[in-house]
Amino acid sequence: MEPITRLGVVGCGLMGSGIAEVAARHGLGVRVAEATPDAVAAGRRRITASLDRGVRRGKLTEEQRDQALARISFTHDLSEMADRQFVVEAVAENRDIKTDVLRALDKAVEDSEAVLATNTSSIPIVDLAVATERPGRVIGMHFFNPVPVQRLVEVIPALITSPATVQRTRDFAELLGKQAIQAPDRSGFVVNALLVPYLLSAVRMVESGAARPDDIDQGMELGCAHPMGPLRLLDLIGLDTAQAVAESMYEEFKEPLYAPPALLRRMVAAGHLGRKNGRGFYIYDA
Ligand code: 3HC
Repeated sequence: MEPITRLGVVGCGLMGSGIAEVAARHGLGVRVAEATPDAVAAGRRRITASLDRGVRRGKLTEEQRDQALARISFTHDLSEMADRQFVVEAVAENRDIKTDVLRALDKAVEDSEAVLATNTSSIPIVDLAVATERPGRVIGMHFFNPVPVQRLVEVIPALITSPATVQRTRDFAELLGKQAIQAPDRSGFVVNALLVPYLLSAVRMVESGAARPDDIDQGMELGCAHPMGPLRLLDLIGLDTAQAVAESMYEEFKEPLYAPPALLRRMVAAGHLGRKNGRGFYIYDA
């Protein structure tokens, strides 16, 4: 099979922008799709800001930043994914939206062998795969936030994913400098199945008044050497995303530890989504 040189990324929020940036920095041509011109502009700004940060930190030169940016093109038309060899969808964690996007991508690449990967955190891959005409070439590829930093990718074959697609995806992860693990097609895969109950337990501790966010976070940072405590991490992930992930996991297992606590729901309803909009368990500069 031809090596992957032409990548598509659908959705340019926190995860999609990170995936596009990492791929461009590894020399791939990346076409990024977003729904509206405003979302395209915001996605471009996010990638540029992250590359600029890399320059400031001495991780890449200005020339390398400009080369990476030149490898990324933007569109709001999914039919422009027709020439892509591999497409990662990273739109909102919502089953209907993801299903619609995969169906549209399936149509766009219908004449090719392209693999469609979903960056879902919790939706069963098989459900998304059977919505397309190429179920054997649909797979889960779950990145971690911040994508340029976290080395892991979970590769999640559905029952009907072909072995060739699994190998192609593992090779692609390696091309991006990531370490792949194979994870089961059950809601939460490996990492979120372990992480989410821990994060939600921290929310319940705040909700019950048992401990303050900063004490909880410092406890896990200083006591267990976690790079950030659970509430700071929830703010990084986005409380709306965390709620959506917990809901999918609860729907699958009916495990009370996966149920989003009322405080999390209320914070999301109030628009306190975490770092991305300046307020979650903590307040951030704009
Ligand atoms: N892009 C690129 N590089 C970044 C970055 C970003 N957005 N954020 C941080 N970095 C780099 C910095 O450049 C720095 O690199 P250097 O030390 O070589 O110069 C390094 O990461 C450390 O950054 P900082 O000094 O600014 O800040 P911290 O030391 O506080 O690290 C952190 C920030 C990397 C976010 C770290 O706290 C961390 O790893 N936190 C845990 C994150 C985590 O657990 N992520 C998984 C979330 S779960 C998930 O994504 C799954 C989903 O389905 C819910």
